[in-house]
Amino acid sequence: MTTTDRSVQEQAQATPVLQVKNLRVYYETEAGQVKAVDDVSFELQPNERLALVGESGSGKTTLALAIMRLHKPPGHIMGGDILLDGRSLLDLTEEEMRMVRLAKVSLVAQAAMNALNPVMRIGEQVIDGLIDHGERRSKEEFRTLVTELLERVGLDPGVARMFPHELSGGMKQRVLIATATALSPRVIIADEPTTALDVVVQRQVMITLGRLQRETGAAVIIVGHEMGLMGQFADRIGVMYAGKLVELGTVEQVVNNPRHPYSKLLIDSVPDLEEKREKLTGIPGMPPALIQLPTGCGFHPRCPSAMPICSEITPPFQRMPDGSLVACHLYDEPKAGVEA
Ligand SMILES: Nc1ncnc2c1ncn2[C@@H]1O[C@H](COP(=O)(O)OP(=O)(O)O)[C@@H](O)[C@H]1O
Ligand SMILES: [Mg+2]
Repeated sequence: MTTTDRSVQEQAQATPVLQVKNLRVYYETEAGQVKAVDDVSFELQPNERLALVGESGSGKTTLALAIMRLHKPPGHIMGGDILLDGRSLLDLTEEEMRMVRLAKVSLVAQAAMNALNPVMRIGEQVIDGLIDHGERRSKEEFRTLVTELLERVGLDPGVARMFPHELSGGMKQRVLIATATALSPRVIIADEPTTALDVVVQRQVMITLGRLQRETGAAVIIVGHEMGLMGQFADRIGVMYAGKLVELGTVEQVVNNPRHPYSKLLIDSVPDLEEKREKLTGIPGMPPALIQLPTGCGFHPRCPSAMPICSEITPPFQRMPDGSLVACHLYDEPKAGVEA
């Protein structure tokens, strides 16, 4: 079950909690400039669940890290802005940003469960994370908080005394989600939180994340490529290709009526969305190297609907009559005055 209807209604009145405006994040490498995030814009409403999908290398993780200002050199924000509750995160000092992380916007990083400290008990790691972000409480209060947090994600409080190797992948991911939501942030970003998990556990983790989202009223950006799982969880889907957001709409719009030829191929490559198991495969051609991007639309060499204009002019991200956004020349307005 998605929460599309509720969210669409709320969006009508709400002001966005997060605004990403024309964001560009490039890596300066010896081989050249990698435009990992290239002029990406979107807004996120409170309570909203946005899924970002796209092939590996399309810039999803770079976008997630940049929103947290956790991107590392040679990655740089080259342009654009990131506003949280109307305030630019790019204007904050590093110290201010450290306080914003976890408290206001938090990240379950890609493959983070492999980064848990193997020689530290889970409870201590959770508390350390909180202290790092400025939380100050007595030992006893922290212990109570850890118990609450673990219970909130369906784990036994005894997990606090365990070491990472004693936990399954699903349990570790729950610990990370518990930490990320500890301070009730406004925005939670989860980068492929279920990738390494088996199908049953994937669903359980998504249900837990969904429940926490509802309880805290946070907005969630989930990065993933299991379209079925994403479609079940999210309100809206954003499709990334070669550093650009090429389509953004409600799950219904994108899944039932994908407009961008790349989105269509993504959806078609999932034979049965109810199967929830299929990965994105079977799109002919290779994702482009982001150093040597084709001219015009980055997708045109692989696009079954490519027209001459597609290799010349980058299509703008334009709004469709039903409110969804798409960057594709197939939807260009006919030029005024062309017809007699
Ligand atoms: N530290 C880095 N240095 C140079 N290029 C990078 C670095 N990290 C990522 N990239 C490049 O940026 C692009 C986007 O990567 P990434 O954001 O990880 O995509 P995704 O999460 O969608 O797989 C890729 O071409 C990748 O090779
Ligand atoms: Mg990634």
